[in-house]
Amino acid sequence: MNLNSLHDVYVHELKDLYSAEKQITEALPKMVKAASDQSLKDAFSHHLDQTQGHLQRVRQILDELDENPGNVKCDGMEGLIKEGEDVIKTSGDSTAKDAALIAAAQRVEHYEIAAYGAARSHAKILGYDEAANTLQRTLDEEGETDKKLTQLAEGGLLGEGINESAR
Ligand SMILES: [Fe+2]
Ligand SMILES: [Fe+2]
Repeated sequence: MNLNSLHDVYVHELKDLYSAEKQITEALPKMVKAASDQSLKDAFSHHLDQTQGHLQRVRQILDELDENPGNVKCDGMEGLIKEGEDVIKTSGDSTAKDAALIAAAQRVEHYEIAAYGAARSHAKILGYDEAANTLQRTLDEEGETDKKLTQLAEGGLLGEGINESAR
């Protein structure tokens, strides 16, 4: 990697986000399967659809810059997904496991929120207003997903649903 300008930083961020989103599209179907609660399954499925859109958006922004994703790998996302996979493989109380899946997914969302926030700001500074708006749209969807997961964690799923023994 060679960073000589903010533009270079921005392009690298987009490639990194492409890798991150690609990894998430592969991980979310496993999260859907691993979740027990139907509303959690639905939330993961819905976010899988959104994530496919996020991937397309990043790809389009790269295309418009005559760049391609190349072989950049998002190591941060790889680690977060590995933590999620550890939860998927774990045995035990299904509601406790759902709680751990939510926490793992929220780590992913917060990573994305940080990365999209920075890329959006850099797009703005560089005068790529349309890309900045697109990145903001994705950022908003990541934020909504994070809030939805908090609601699921604090609402019916864990607030009342969790077994006394697993509390
Ligand atoms: Fe995303
Ligand atoms: Fe996300």
